[in-house]
This record gives sequence, C-alpha cells and structure tokens, in this order.
Amino acid sequence: MKTIAVLGSTGSVGVTTLDVVSRFPGQFRIGAMAAGRNVELLANQVRRFSPELVSVADSEVARALKALLGGHKVEILTGLDGAIAVATYAGAKLVVSAMVGALGLRPTLRAIEAGKDIAFANKEVLVVAGEVVTRAAQIHGVRLLPVDSEHNALFQCIEGRKRAEVKRIILTASGGPFRTLPLDRFAGVTVADALKHPTWQMGAKITIDSATLMNKGLEVIEARWLFGLDAPQISVIIHPQSIIHSMVEMIDGSVLAEMAIPDMAIPVAYALAFPERLPMDHLRPLSLVECGNLTFEEPDFGRFPCLRLAYEALRAGGTMPACLNAANEELVAGFLAKKLRFVEIPRHIETVMGRHHGRPARSLEDVLETDSWARAATQELMAA
Ligand SMILES: NC(=O)c1ccc[n+]([C@@H]2O[C@H](COP(=O)([O-])OP(=O)(O)OC[C@H]3O[C@@H](n4cnc5c(N)ncnc54)[C@H](OP(=O)(O)O)[C@@H]3O)[C@@H](O)[C@H]2O)c1
Repeated sequence: MKTIAVLGSTGSVGVTTLDVVSRFPGQFRIGAMAAGRNVELLANQVRRFSPELVSVADSEVARALKALLGGHKVEILTGLDGAIAVATYAGAKLVVSAMVGALGLRPTLRAIEAGKDIAFANKEVLVVAGEVVTRAAQIHGVRLLPVDSEHNALFQCIEGRKRAEVKRIILTASGGPFRTLPLDRFAGVTVADALKHPTWQMGAKITIDSATLMNKGLEVIEARWLFGLDAPQISVIIHPQSIIHSMVEMIDGSVLAEMAIPDMAIPVAYALAFPERLPMDHLRPLSLVECGNLTFEEPDFGRFPCLRLAYEALRAGGTMPACLNAANEELVAGFLAKKLRFVEIPRHIETVMGRHHGRPARSLEDVLETDSWARAATQELMAA
C-alpha cells in the first residue's frame, strides 16, 4: 500500500489523481491533502478518502470545512505551514505536487528534503527554481516523476537509456485555441475565447498559458531541468490532435514517441505506480484509424511571443525564468480578472524581463527575491 499526499487535491490534476487512487484501493491510500478555497469539493474528498491531515488557504476556509465535515475526524491546518505539513506528512512515500504557480515551491521543496518522491505536475516550481529543486532531489535521493503529459511521455521514452544517446527532445503542443487565428484578431481575444482549449480540460491558469503558448515555454524550461538538457536540444512542434505526447530523437536517428488519448489519468497513473503500470481499462483505447491524420507544424514565434520569451529566459538562465514566471502569473491573473488584454501578456512580460538584472539562482532566497520583485514590477506596469 503506497500512502500519498496531494498538494492541490481540488484542482484538475488533484481530482484526476484521486480518481485514479479510488480505482486501486488495494494499492494506494491518501494520507494528507492540501487545497485552497474549494471547501465543498474538499469536504467530499475528505469524507471519501479519510486522510489524517488536510490543509486549506486560511482559517476562514478551515472553519467552513469544519462545519461541513461535522464530526468527521481529521486534522485541519492552514496556509503555507499547513501545505508544508501535508507535503512532509510522515506516512507518505509519494507527494503529488499539483498546486498551481510558484505557490507550490516551498511545500514541494520541503517534501523533497523530507525524502518523498514527487509526482510533478506543478511545472512553475521547476521553472522558478529548477537548479535548487533538482539539486535537492539529488542530495535526498528523491525521484522526480513527471505528470505533465509531455514530460511523462519523454520520461517513458528515455527511462533506462543513456543520456548521451539522446540527441534532442521534441515537445508536442496542441497549439491552443488560437493556432490558426490571424495576427490582427489577437487584439480582440476575450477570456471566454482563451478558456476554450481544443483538446484538454484543465485549470484556468494553464488553459490561458496554453492559449498564449507560455505553457509550452514553461514546459521547455521544465524539460531542461527534468532531463538535464540545453536549450538547443529542446524543440517544440505543433501537433493539434494531442495524440503524440512528445518525442525523443536518439543519436542514431531513431525517434521514439509516446502516444495515448489526451487524458491526464494516464500520466498520473504512470507517476503514481512507477515503476509498475496500472490497467486503465475504463479509458477508451487509442484508435489511430479513428484519429485519421496526425499533423505537425512549426510553432509561430511571431504570433506567440510567449514561447520566444521562455526560450530567451532559459538561455539567459539564473533568475530570468523566475522573473518570466512571476510576470506571467500576475498577468494571467490580471487577464482572467479582465484587467488587461490578451496581447498585453507577452508585451508586459518582455518589459519586465528587460528591466530584470538577472543573477545566479542557486538558493531559494535568490529566486524568491526575484519572484517578488517581478510581481511588483508587473503590478506597476498593469496599474500604469
Ligand atoms: N490540468 C492539467 O491537465 C495539467 C496538466 C499538466 C500540468 N499541469 C500543471 O499542474 C498544476 C495544477 O494545474 P491544475 O490545472 O490542476 O490547476 P487548478 O485546477 O487551478 O488547481 C490548482 C490547485 O491548487 C490549489 N490551491 C490554490 N491556492 C492554494 C493555496 N493557497 N494553498 C493550497 N492549495 C492551493 C487549488 O485549490 P482550490 O481550487 O481549492 O482553491 C487547486 O487544488 C499547474 O502547475 C499546471 O501547470 C496541469
């Protein structure tokens, strides 16, 4: 029986994780979970999975949860300390890191320091502090198991092979809802338009990131840290059907690909059970005949400047990816709150990156300082 702690249990990845767990009651148990404010869903999850410990955003949410749970026995904690307690829950062997944004950094890092393997969905953590996180994982002998479907695909292709035999990786991208939108129509994009992802059902932040292609940019940086590659070894290709989840080109010219229907249950199950595989018989099988054509295009860096900016941040290294991420988080929140236009997201990120004096990102303090500087600089731009 593997005991699991889930950071972000009420989110899209969290819900998928609990669904997979519920299908294999003899193999997994939920020991602890952290969520933000979705108290009704969390109360249902607590009743269903009976964790010993839960954490919520603040004491007001904790009171609401307690009231909903009545006499149900569970320890309820709050805030960052609560999320860290969940991340370091003594009984857990594996922590699913599925909070959204840089918020997940400290809990995830503390889980690693406590020797927990990480099922990694919260990509911003690796973007912001890739060096700190991967070094901690090495020191503490912890496995970083990718949940992001692309990195999970790459992990499946690369696992057990010599790194020197990998020539490059090719991350696939659906292209998002604006793949074919003419450049002159981007100015009129609304929040509702941007939230309509063609192939994946996900949380709001990642859905907007998919529409700007920042999500792919963040994944490029995530791949750099998960697989120890340099920017020129990481390519992106648009594949609108989302059937090939990514590819690895080996030095002999062979290209390995992982294919599956676009359903996060598959990479989640792989990460939960690694190195075993779980029978996912409830999912419809992949039929390539039904898919018809699998098509591929080069990404358009002109219409999607966020992807270019992410490559620039990766090449600059140090604290620049943390700056890119913080600016993006603030701008996406601003866009969702209808405080700025879609096209202003990349424009403001570029301005903030231009103002940032990058430096090495060797410690948590280095990246946290950059994170708060870049958020303040972005807020100032939005207010102007
Ligand atoms: N969704 C996908 O299919 C997918 C695929 C690949 C990678 N990812 C990555 O996985 C991460 C999660 O994505 P998602 O789509 O699942 O996001 P989401 O649906 O927005 O869920 C985010 C989770 O974080 C929780 N949270 C927010 N504030 C919190 C706080 N202060 N303390 C504790 N928890 C807090 C939320 O709780 P409440 O809702 O209760 O407030 C929710 O459980 C992101 O980094 C994303 O890039 C997602």
